[in-house]
Parts: sequence; structure tokens; C-alpha cells
Amino acid sequence: MSGSANPIPMEAARSGPLRGVAEVPGDKSISHRALILGALSVGETRITGLLEGQDVLDTAAAMRAFGAKVIRQVPGEWSVHGVGVGGFAEPAQVIDCGNSGTGVRLVMGAMATTAITATFTGDASLNRRPMGRVTEPLALFGAQAHGRAGGRLPMTAIGAADPVPVRYVLPMPSAQVKSAVLLAGLNAPGQTVVIEPEATRDHTERMLRGFGAQIAVADTSEGRVITLTGQPELVAQDVAVPRDPSSAAFPVCAALIVPGSEVTVPGVSQNPTRNGLFTTLVEMGADLTFESPRDEGGEPVADLRVRFSGNLKGVETPPDRAASMIDEFPILAVVAAFAEGRTVMRGVKELRVKESDRIDAMARGLEACGVRVEESEDTLIVHGCGAAGVAGGATVESRMDHRIAMSFLCLGLAAQRPVRVDDGGPIATSFPVFEPLMAELGATIRRIEG
Ligand code: S3P
Repeated sequence: MSGSANPIPMEAARSGPLRGVAEVPGDKSISHRALILGALSVGETRITGLLEGQDVLDTAAAMRAFGAKVIRQVPGEWSVHGVGVGGFAEPAQVIDCGNSGTGVRLVMGAMATTAITATFTGDASLNRRPMGRVTEPLALFGAQAHGRAGGRLPMTAIGAADPVPVRYVLPMPSAQVKSAVLLAGLNAPGQTVVIEPEATRDHTERMLRGFGAQIAVADTSEGRVITLTGQPELVAQDVAVPRDPSSAAFPVCAALIVPGSEVTVPGVSQNPTRNGLFTTLVEMGADLTFESPRDEGGEPVADLRVRFSGNLKGVETPPDRAASMIDEFPILAVVAAFAEGRTVMRGVKELRVKESDRIDAMARGLEACGVRVEESEDTLIVHGCGAAGVAGGATVESRMDHRIAMSFLCLGLAAQRPVRVDDGGPIATSFPVFEPLMAELGATIRRIEG
């Protein structure tokens, strides 16, 4: 069951070599943050390269509901006239964040220290996901939240009228929770401190600094200590969003497993808090090079050149790498199926609370495609079948999860028999041009009519 009223079943079949340049869209994490910080600053923020996926469009709508003027100038170019820190207005309607955990958690943080009330909801996937991980730290500022059992959406949040600053040690490696606390800290007096025992993506810290906030980051024996000085005046900026390494992962990994392929993906973020997949692929023996390293929009980027790699070896990914590739485990599991030997992914229990339980979704889907897997609460093990040994021939449930759908479509490009996903609709949340981009490279992916 896809969970969508209008599922879009899709099929991928064994393809000839993938060739060409894959210009993947803007980074989803950075796109959300650019809209939110634009809305919290004074003046006009201009954003180029914004990802126009549904998740980000829902955050744009949320920022309008809180009083910012958000305008799409031309495709990918947006402007945001902000209301300033503490300037959010009370939304007149329920805020629907669709499929996006990042959207709802960051926006909840951004409103938590302003004396307004807002009600949040999402789709069936988002309404199953835990929100206590943000409402608990936001309560320390003085905010309140009332939701369904287990801290689930729909949920009404009441911002603190007299917020106090907070010192918070993250109980799980989550950039969303870290960011919610930092965004709440913007409108609290004094210093808000977040300590993350394991480093997670640092786009919020980078961008806060870019918008003029005072933020210090120190690596200590406790972990990374981030100190934000509250109540700054954020100043509108021009933001150039780099391409999304999590989207780049799909054409890169497809090229690795489809014989004869050679693909270039230009301008992909090489931020060390995001590049664990590429490190892992190189360890597996992937023919992957990083060309023209440079800085774009405050993020390190490089052009990725990838060639079919028929001798991939299984590897172990250590728990301390998990955060830097948390969204890439589904597609890594696919690559692992085409490798020789076992790939062991450790420290991955956060995958259980993503858009779907991604350990379960990958394990069941891979088994249906003839691949042996083992799993525990915190580990996924894939027994590789070798470059030509994956059977395929199954219909896999995408479970309202874009990355599950794209991963199995990539698997179908190199499997012996075609692979179907019951619903490719969720792909539009993060990678709306996935189908034409993959077709342009030579991939055989089609929608199944009726
Ligand atoms: C994100 C953080 C990660 C990631 C998500 C995007 C972000 O989630 O899985 O897709 O933009 O901050 P967690 O914070 O739950 O680890």
C-alpha cells in the first residue's frame, strides 16, 4: 500500500550505459534553511538554485503563513522579504508540512520563542514520525506543544512569551533537532548552547553566521559545542544553493552498477558533514573522482566523475560515519547488492524514524529482489550478489518515501529482471526532475499506466 490517494506506479528495466552530465537540483537542507532565515531577517534575501521540490514548497508556504513575503521570481530564483527575529505573525490556518520532517521541525523551532500559536500537520508518513525530539528541548525555552499520542502531528505549538536561553545536549545525532534549538535560540536573550556528541550537517550554523548571527563552534571532549548569542538582527543575504549530494547519490550509484556507464555530476557539495557515502563508495573500489574542488555559496563543492565499477567489494560503515550519510543508506544498500561480499552498515537506528522505517523498507525490498539481508535495531547487512547477480523482478513498496522509490528504480536499471515500485509519487518531494534527468542519461524508467 502506497498511502497516497493517487499512486504513480513505476518500473525500471536493465539499461544500456548511462552517459552524460547530471545536473541535480539544489540541496534540500540548505533550501529549507534559506527560506526560514530569509523570513527571520530584515530586508530582501535572494535565493538562487532553490530546490523546487514539494518539501521546500511547503516550507515556503509556511513562511508566508507566518508573515514573510516569499516570491518565486523565475524557476529556481526566489526572494524573501523577512519579518525579522521575533517578528513572526500568528498563522490564520493550519500549517501543512506535507512529507517533510525537516520543514516541520525547523519551523517549530523558529516560532517557539515568539508568543504566537500555530497548528502543524503533514501527510500520513509525517504524522507517524516523532516530534517529541523537538518539543522537549523547545519546552526548555518555555514553549508548549499539544499533539497526538506519542508526540505525533497534528500538533499545536504555543511559543514562549518570555523565553529563556537553553543549554541542550542532543540525545540523538539529528541536525533537525539541533537546528530547531538554534532557531528558537535566536529570539531568546543570552546564549543558547547546543552540544552534539556526534557532528551532524552544519548548514544552519554556516548560514546563521552568513546572516550575521554571532555563533561559535568548538570541538571539545564532550563533542561539538555550538554557542549562539540570542536576539541578533539578521541581515538579508544572497544565497546560492549548491547541488544536493543526497540527490547526486542516485545518478552516481546508478552509473556504478550499470555496465559501461560514465557520468559527471557537477557542483556537488563536499561538506564533510554530508559526504560519508562518497567516502564509502571509494572504499568499496568505486571509480569515482572529485574534480575542480572549489567553494560555492559558502559550501565546498566538486565535480563528481563516476564510471561503471564491476569489482565493488563489501565494506563496513562505522557508526561515527552514519550521520554524514544518513539519507544515503538506501542507495548504498542497492550498491552493496551489486558488490562482492558483505556490506555492514552500523549505527543506523535513526533510519527507523525517517519518511519510512528505512531498514525495514530496504530489507524487505532487497529480499523480494533476491538479495540476502540481515538486520538488527541498529544495523543493516547486505550480502552482495556481484555485478551481474541481482535478480530483481519484484514490485517494491515505496512507503511514501522518496529515497526508497529512487533506490529501487536504480536497482532495476542493473538487475536481471525489471523492478517496479508501487508509488513513485514521493520522488517529487526532493528530486522533481529525477525521471527526465535519468532518461537523459539513458535509464529505462517508465510510469505504468492504469
Ligand atoms: C536533515 C537532517 C537529517 C536528514 C534529513 C535532513 C536536515 O535528519 O535525514 O533528510 O536538513 O537537517 P535528522 O536531523 O533527523 O537526522
